[in-house]
Amino acid sequence: MTALQDKVAIVTGGASGIGRATAVAFAAAGASVVVTDLDGEGAAAVAKELGPTARSAQVDVTDAEASAAAVALAEQEFGRLDILSCNAGFTGFPTPTMDASEDEFDRIFRINVKGVWLGVRAAVPALRRSGGGAITIVGSIMGERTRPGFGAYASSKAAVNHLARTLALELAPDIRVNCLAPVATDTAMLPQFLGPEDPAGARERFIGSIPLGRLGQPEDIANAAVYLSSDAAAFLTGVVLPIDGGRSV
Ligand SMILES: NC(=O)c1ccc[n+]([C@@H]2O[C@H](COP(=O)([O-])OP(=O)(O)OC[C@H]3O[C@@H](n4cnc5c(N)ncnc54)[C@H](O)[C@@H]3O)[C@@H](O)[C@H]2O)c1
Repeated sequence: MTALQDKVAIVTGGASGIGRATAVAFAAAGASVVVTDLDGEGAAAVAKELGPTARSAQVDVTDAEASAAAVALAEQEFGRLDILSCNAGFTGFPTPTMDASEDEFDRIFRINVKGVWLGVRAAVPALRRSGGGAITIVGSIMGERTRPGFGAYASSKAAVNHLARTLALELAPDIRVNCLAPVATDTAMLPQFLGPEDPAGARERFIGSIPLGRLGQPEDIANAAVYLSSDAAAFLTGVVLPIDGGRSV
């Protein structure tokens, strides 16, 4: 696939799960990729797997300077930046919203919402130096349709879904911003969504609520990220795309 031939991308949260699959799919589509993550070793391992057209950096998305350094690395190593893919995110186990701690509430919003804003803010000048670009942000279907126990997480994802729409309006016409809204996806984060009690039963019950009869796989979201980041999606911006096997229909 050459949908992203000669493009240069930054993938945040690229050490694991959806971010890792996105880095792999971007590279397979012809892009050079800077893989970033709080887990610097994990990011380096993914970049090594991708070969000479990949680099890595240890980046905490809540750190504005580290986000700017990743952009500088992309321009220094590959000469430009065309794509930003924001995957880094966090949640804890389901907690009644009245019982959530201030620390957990703050942490969820700092990573899931402020972290996206800082990443976009760092990338936009470089995207413009390249003549424009595409940003995809991983929100969640929970940003549109919530569940008990996820007051902080679901509202952070509602915020990020809406942040994507607002940025789409503000950054047009040269930068497109779209949001991917996955259902429960088979990654390291899945146990948090299933909860600590009877995870096997919770998994089966969850699958039973998805018309297409399975959980999301990281590649399902990565493939959508490739499309939305490519010139084939040149007239799409401000879209929040459910990738949920029909659960939210
Ligand atoms: N797995 C799901 O069911 C699901 C569903 C909907 C949305 N999402 C969203 O998808 C995104 C990716 O999650 P995943 O499922 O691949 O989980 P994951 O745990 O496999 O990957 C998350 C990655 O984000 C990184 N990360 C966490 N905090 C960070 C920070 N402050 N700075 C930089 N990196 C940080 C982690 O180190 C990890 O590599 C998240 O935004 C998550 O909220 C996941």
